[in-house]
Amino acid sequence: MNQVTRREFVKTGVSVLGAIAAGCAGSGSSPTPPPNNTLVFPQGFLWGASTSAYQIEGGWNADGKGPSIWDTFVHSTPSPIANGDTGDVACDDYHLYQQDVALAQSLNLKSYRFSISWPRVLPTGSGAVNQAGLSFYSRLTDQLLAAGIRPLPTLFHWDLPQALSDLGGWTSRDTAQRFADYAALMVGALGDRISTWLIFNEPMWFTLLGYWTGSNAPGLANDFTRYISTTHIANIAQGQAFQAMKAANGNLRISSACSLTPVEPLTSSAADQDAAARLDALLNLWWIEPALKGQYPDAFRPFPSAQMGVQPGDMDLIHAPFDFLGINCYSRAIAWSQSPGVWDLPGFEVGYGGGTSGVQTDNGWEVWPDALHDILASMYSRYSLPMEVTENGCAYNDAPNASGAIVDQRRIDFYSGYIAALHRAIAEGVDVRGYHAWSLMDNFEWLDGFSMRFGLTYVDFTNPARTRTVKSSGNWYAQLAASNSLTT
Ligand code: FCB
Repeated sequence: MNQVTRREFVKTGVSVLGAIAAGCAGSGSSPTPPPNNTLVFPQGFLWGASTSAYQIEGGWNADGKGPSIWDTFVHSTPSPIANGDTGDVACDDYHLYQQDVALAQSLNLKSYRFSISWPRVLPTGSGAVNQAGLSFYSRLTDQLLAAGIRPLPTLFHWDLPQALSDLGGWTSRDTAQRFADYAALMVGALGDRISTWLIFNEPMWFTLLGYWTGSNAPGLANDFTRYISTTHIANIAQGQAFQAMKAANGNLRISSACSLTPVEPLTSSAADQDAAARLDALLNLWWIEPALKGQYPDAFRPFPSAQMGVQPGDMDLIHAPFDFLGINCYSRAIAWSQSPGVWDLPGFEVGYGGGTSGVQTDNGWEVWPDALHDILASMYSRYSLPMEVTENGCAYNDAPNASGAIVDQRRIDFYSGYIAALHRAIAEGVDVRGYHAWSLMDNFEWLDGFSMRFGLTYVDFTNPARTRTVKSSGNWYAQLAASNSLTT
C-alpha cells in the first residue's frame, strides 16, 4: 500500500461501496438535543486544548535542537507537504510561548496539552542533554502553573530524532530503550511539577503512515509484515517508558493519547460484524490491550507473532497498566468483509472507510458526534478506567471578515454536538475527567501544512509576528469552560 495519506486512508473503499454505505451506515443519526438545554458538567471537569511540538513550536534548529524525521521529511524534494509548507517557524511558539500561555488563560482553560520535542532535549535521541531545550519545557511548565493551568505533556508526538531514525527508528528495538531513557529523563526534570503524563500520541497512525503507507515521516512504504513488526516495537517502547517513568516517580498518572474510532459494520451480516471486530482490534485495541493486559487483542486472528518478531519476555515488556485512558476521537469508521482486504494479511480481510451520512469538515472528515459518546461508553465498559478526551476538533478554514473577526459558526456547531455527546456519556455514568479541543490555535497540519485550520484561534502565517486572533469558537469555548456547562 503505497503513498496513501491519512485522509485518503479513512476513505478507502467508500467510493466503491459508497452507495451501499449511504444506505446503511448512518441509520440511527445523532439525536438533536432540545433547544436552550443547559448541560452541566461535573465539578472540577478539566476543559483544555491540545497542541504538539512540531505543529506549533517552530525554532526547528534553534539553540542546539537536533533534527527530527519531520524536519527531514518536509525539506525533501519534491515537497510532500501542501504548498511546500514546513514547520520551520509554524506558530513560533518556541519564542511566543508566554503569549500562548496567556492566550490559554484568557480562554479559561484549566489544562493545556503540549508535546515535548525529543530532539530539542536530546539532539541525537540519547547522550548529551541540550540544556536550552530542557529549559524551554521547564519555563513553559512554570508559566502554565502560574496561570493556574495543568500542564499535560506528551512525550512523543511523531517527531523522532533523525539520528535514531538513521539507526532504524521504530523498526529497531534499541529505539525503545532510548525512548525509555528519554522518558525517565523528562520525569526527572519535570516530575516534581507535572503529575499527569502521556507517552505516545496516536501510535496507530505514526506507525501506519510512517512505516506502511509511507505517506508521513519517515516516509517508508513497507509491506504489512514490516509494519506490524514496527507496531510491536512501538508497544515495547510504550511499556518500557511507562515502567521507567513509574520507577522514577510512582505517583505519576500515565497514559497514551490513542486515536480511538468506533467501528460500525456496514451491514448486519455476520461477515461484516466479524470484519468490524477485526478492524476494531487493529485500529483501537492494538495499543490498549498490550498496555492494560500485556497481550494483543483476541479478535485479531491469525495472530502474526512470527511476523511481528515477538520474543520470549516481550509480553511483560509491553505491559503498561495505564492510570487513565487518553482518547483522541474525531469520527467513526465503517468496516465490511472484503477479500483481498485493506490489510494484505491472509485471514484479515477488511474493507474500511469513513461514514458518509454526516456533513463533512473542510478536510473531508465526517461530523458524527455519536462517535465520541460511543467510544467513551465502549472503552469504559471494557476497562472501567477514568478517561480524558485528549483531542477532538475539526478543520474549518474560515478567514477573517472585513472587520477582522473570524466567525466560525460551523466549529461552534461541531463542538456543541460532540460536547453534548460527551455529556450524555458522563450522564450514563462513564468516568470522563477532561476534554481537550484540538487545537488551541491553527497550526502545521502535517501533509496539509497550513491549508487546514483546526484552531480556536486564528494564526496569520503570512505575518512574521504570527499574530493570533481568537475566533468566535474560541470565545464560545471560553464561556463554556468558565460556566462548566453547555447551552444548546
Ligand atoms: C490527530 C493528530 C494531531 C492533529 C489532529 C488533527 O490525529 O494527533 O496532531 O493532526 O489529528
